[in-house]
Order: sequence, then C-alpha cells, then structure tokens
Amino acid sequence: MKHLLKLLDLSEKEILDLLNLADQLKYEKKHGIAHKRLEGKTLGMIFEKSSTRTRVSFEVGMYELGGQALFLSSRDLQIGRGEPIEDTARVLSRYLDGIMIRTFKQSDVEDLAAYGSIPIINGLTDFAHPCQVLADLMTVREFKGLLKGLKVCFIGDGNNMANSLIVGCLKVGMSFSIACPKDYRPDESVLDFAKGYGDKFVMTNDIALAAKDADVLITDVWASMGQEDEKRIREKAFSGYQINKDVLSYAKSDAIVLHCLPAHREEEITAEVFEAHASEIFEEAENRIHAQKAVMVRLMENA
Ligand code: CP
Ligand code: NVA
Repeated sequence: MKHLLKLLDLSEKEILDLLNLADQLKYEKKHGIAHKRLEGKTLGMIFEKSSTRTRVSFEVGMYELGGQALFLSSRDLQIGRGEPIEDTARVLSRYLDGIMIRTFKQSDVEDLAAYGSIPIINGLTDFAHPCQVLADLMTVREFKGLLKGLKVCFIGDGNNMANSLIVGCLKVGMSFSIACPKDYRPDESVLDFAKGYGDKFVMTNDIALAAKDADVLITDVWASMGQEDEKRIREKAFSGYQINKDVLSYAKSDAIVLHCLPAHREEEITAEVFEAHASEIFEEAENRIHAQKAVMVRLMENA
C-alpha cells in the first residue's frame, strides 16, 4: 500500500491489517505506551473544505507518533490561485513525508499521488471518505466483536460516505443494504463493484426492508459540503430518510447506530436516537485518530 486514495484500491487483508494496527495503537495510547514511530516526519494537511475531526485527529495523531503536521488551507496555498496540482505535488514531495488532502474532486487526489513521490491520504472528497470508514469498521468490530456476516444498513444520500461504506463493508465480508431516493444513488463505479457481491448488496427505497435485521444502522447528512445551494431540494427528496425509533424497530434489538458527524438532528437522525446511541457515535469519532495513526504508520514509517 503506497497511498490511501479510496478503499477500492485496498485488499481485505490490507484493510484488516490497518484495523489490527489501529486497535494496537489505541491499546498503547490507553496504557501510556509511547509509540513514536514517525519521529522527524512531517505530514502536510491540505484543506479545501471545513473540518473538525479530520484536522484535529490527524494533527494530534502525527504529534503522538513523534512527528509534526502542517495545516495548509487552500485559501492560503497557491492552489487556491490556480497553481496546478501537478506542480504542487512535485514541490511538496521535496519538503514533506506525506500529504493528507480534503478536497472536492477525487481526480485531484489521484493526480497528487500520480505526480508526487510521497504517500497521499484522502481526507474526504465528493467521492470517498476512506479514513472515516476505517474508523467505522474499527468501531463496529469493537462493539460487535467481529465483522464477517454482520448486516449494515445505510439510510440517506448515496454520497462519499455511502460509497466508501459499501466498498469497505463488502470487502470485509459484511452484507450491505442502502435505502436512498432514486436520484441520489451511490456512484456507478461503486454499484458496479457491489454487483460482484450478489445478494449481499441491496439498494432500495424501502427503508423498512433495508433496515430489517440490521446489526448496524448508519446515516449521514442530506446535503454534503459543497451542496449548500441544494439544501431546499434535498430536504424534500430526503424527507423520511431518517434513522428514528420506527426504523430502529426493524433492526436487531442490539443494533448499533453510527454517524460520521457533523449530524443534523431531526433531519437524517432524530435527537432521541442520536442521544441513545451517543456512546457508539463518539467512540466512532475517537477511533478516527487511532485508524489514521495506523494509516500513517503503514504509509510513512518505512517510506
Ligand atoms: N467526520 C468528519 O470527517 O468530520 P470533519 O468534517 O469534522 O473532519
Ligand atoms: N458527506 C459529508 C461528510 C462529512 C464528514 C460531507 O461530505 O460533507
């Protein structure tokens, strides 16, 4: 593994190796065992969109690994004034040991990797959010003790989270159902990938069917970053695509609920369900730091 651009690029074995390392790093942190495995290394963090979790967890994670992180807002970088990704990649490769980038186009992340010579980590694009899904898988395994054979149900927009969850969950042997409006389906490349998993993947607009016997229920905002202008139309399209008490009643009685955050209460999830499952949701948020430290160690330790 040279980069983390999208989960489609990783094998099941690579995903499980990252989850195992993340568990180990979490254990070490909880027991005060230092793991300065990236001493002297620097991660650049390019942000073209807002962030709370991604920024703080990468920055603190890098510090805990003995390295340092640089916050690079696209508002201040020459990228924001049109300097090509190809040039930015070649320049930053000479200063840094790795780059985490949060941006709009997946192709910008792929180009950064193609033109640069250091590991690139996707910190969210319109297409994918692989770091979040590694943390989600880690959280599911923590609460359920295993991954294989579980049923995950996603309710809402076929967005970056849905795309990455479908790929990550199917790769590690879970079945996946998504309830989404017909005009808001996941990316075609992801649906093509999912076809290979037969009836382990279901896409429907029947929320009860999607949630039936689920072990894990997940949702995300109706309007993602960059879609602020569509807020009104989306509120109409997604009305009813919500995790609430009714939806939970279709799932297994011990189902957990995840949300990558930020959450919009009474839109994609009710405040009642959110608070009842806060222990899972905030463990999921914490696991971002452990999962990302695992990614950085694997990509940067011997690079
Ligand atoms: N879940 C997530 O990526 O959060 P931020 O947008 O705060 O980084
Ligand atoms: N789908 C959301 C995820 C935020 C972490 C967005 O892209 O804004």
